[in-house]
Amino acid sequence: MIEVKDLYFSRNDGDKKHNILNQLDLFIPAAQHLALLGDSGSGKTTFLHILAGLLQADRGSVSINNKELSQLNETELALYRRKIGLIFQHYQLLDCLTVKQNILFQHKLNYPTQAASDFEHLVNELGLQNKLGALPEQLSGGEQQRVGIARALINNPRIIFADEPTGNLDRKRSHQVVKLLTELCSERKINLVMVTHSNQLTDYFDHVKILRDGCFD
Ligand SMILES: Nc1ncnc2c1ncn2[C@@H]1O[C@H](COP(=O)(O)OP(=O)(O)O)[C@@H](O)[C@H]1O
Ligand SMILES: [Mg+2]
Repeated sequence: MIEVKDLYFSRNDGDKKHNILNQLDLFIPAAQHLALLGDSGSGKTTFLHILAGLLQADRGSVSINNKELSQLNETELALYRRKIGLIFQHYQLLDCLTVKQNILFQHKLNYPTQAASDFEHLVNELGLQNKLGALPEQLSGGEQQRVGIARALINNPRIIFADEPTGNLDRKRSHQVVKLLTELCSERKINLVMVTHSNQLTDYFDHVKILRDGCFD
């Protein structure tokens, strides 16, 4: 469950204050999916980073599964960040690691003594079973993003934030990736927030919000 109330965020731009997000309110029930649209510079990434606990709002509240982020101390915030999954436009895979190592790397850091129980099932669902020994450079963009999705899901996150995950993919691959991502999140009852430029992908989502100059339409 994601609840945002009266949220503001600004940056100092020289001696001028630049309002980036203004008076945002949002409610997304548990397990539901939001597509966040908006032109470049409208504040989408900033908003996502606030929800992910990577940036702090100037004012207002962000509550995730009934936990108010601004009330968490550093240890609690670190725990919160472990329970979220992040997916990026440029995949952010480690070039020198294989597909399998990329998927499991963060999981090993977080839980050194625990096997990733979902691994085989997940790679099969993502069609990566024959690519586990490959390096990222040997994969297509769509395959690399499927590795990015596997890496986000392997930690059993309660919530996933995806920032333009189809920004580097053609139309057909964008639909494939978003269909897979939303299906996998539905099966696992994960809240999903996905930023996109494209209003062609909104059919896969329960909610759609458009940011314009830091305000919801
Ligand atoms: N670190 C920063 N310092 C100053 N301004 C920033 C910073 N990050 C983003 N901005 C500004 O905030 C606005 C929103 O940026 P961003 O959230 O990246 O938008 P989007 O993801 O929708 O393209 C833009 O005007 C951008 O220039
Ligand atoms: Mg952005």
